[in-house]
Amino acid sequence: MKVLLDADVQENALRADVVAGLTAARKWLPPKWFYDARGSELFEQITELPEYYPTRTERAILTSYAPEVARLTGARTLIELGAGYSTKTRLLLQALPLTAFVPVDVSPSALAAAAEQIGADFPALRVHPIVGDFTRHLGAVPDTPGRLVAFLGGTIGNFEPAARARFFADLRAVLRPGEHLLLGTDLVKSPRELVPAYDDAAGVTAEFNKNVLRVLNRHLDADFDVDGFAHVALWDAAEEWIEMRLRARWPMRVTIPAVGLVVEFAPGEEIRTEISAKFRREGVEKELSEAGFALDQWWTDDGGRFALSLARAVA
Ligand code: AVJ
Repeated sequence: MKVLLDADVQENALRADVVAGLTAARKWLPPKWFYDARGSELFEQITELPEYYPTRTERAILTSYAPEVARLTGARTLIELGAGYSTKTRLLLQALPLTAFVPVDVSPSALAAAAEQIGADFPALRVHPIVGDFTRHLGAVPDTPGRLVAFLGGTIGNFEPAARARFFADLRAVLRPGEHLLLGTDLVKSPRELVPAYDDAAGVTAEFNKNVLRVLNRHLDADFDVDGFAHVALWDAAEEWIEMRLRARWPMRVTIPAVGLVVEFAPGEEIRTEISAKFRREGVEKELSEAGFALDQWWTDDGGRFALSLARAVA
C-alpha cells in the first residue's frame, strides 16, 4: 500500500481547515473530516436508508451498464477515487478485462479491508491501493496504458464549482487522449425527495453530520457539546445543491486547544458542513468539455434520479 498521507500530514490539514473554517464570518468545515472509522460506518448505514436513494440507484445503473463500460473502454487498469470499501466497484471488476486495480482513498482502514477482499476474490488482479487525497495526489496514479478512472457515488457534488473545474482539469492532465472517466452524479429533482435523503427519519444523517464535532473533540482536544447542535439539511434552489449545517441551539463558547482557538456561537448560528451539488446533463457535459473530456455516454435509472457519465479524454 502506497501511503501519501500519514497521520501527521492529516492532523496538519485538519488544523488548517478548522482555523480557516471556524474563524470565518460564516463558519464552515469541509466534509472530508466526517470520515473517521465511526463516520465511515455511519455513511455505510446512510447508504442503506430507505430515503437515501443515490447508492442503490447508482448500483442499479452499474449493474445494467458495466458490460458496456467494458466494451467501450477495454480498460486494463481501473483507478477508483474515493474508493472507500469498493462495494459497487465489484460490478466493474467482474465486467472489465483488467490487469490492475488502484483504489485511492484517505482511509487506510477501508482501503486495507477492500484490498484484501478483492485480492482474494480476483486472484489474477494486481491490487495497488494508494492512501491519498484525490484533490492532491492524482500525480501518483500509475502510468499504465488503457486507464479508466472511476469517481462514483456523487462525491464530485462535495466540490464547489471552481474546485470542480480544477479537479476535472487536473484529472485530464494525468490522462492520455482516449483514456476514460466514469463519473457518478446525483441529479436535480424535487426537494420533496432530496431533503429527506439528507434528513432521514431514523436520524442517521444527523449523527453523521454531528460526527465531525466528535472528530474535532478527539483530534484537537476540543470541547464541543455535540447535543448543543441541531442537524439542518436544506435545498438551495439557486445553487442546486443540498447544504448540511449544524445549528447552535443555545449560545456556546468552544475551546479548541490544539489550535489555540476559542470559538463563540450565538444561538441559531450555523456551521456549514457539506454541500452536495445535484446535476443536469447539460451542466456535466459542459464542465467535462471545458476540461478536455468528451461525454460519450450518459446512463440514468428509469426514474432519472442519478446518472453515470462515460467521458473520454480528448487531445
Ligand atoms: C458521499 C458525498 C456522495 O453527498 O450524498 C450522505 C455524503 N452526506 N448524506 C452525498 C452524504 C449526507 C454523500 N457523498
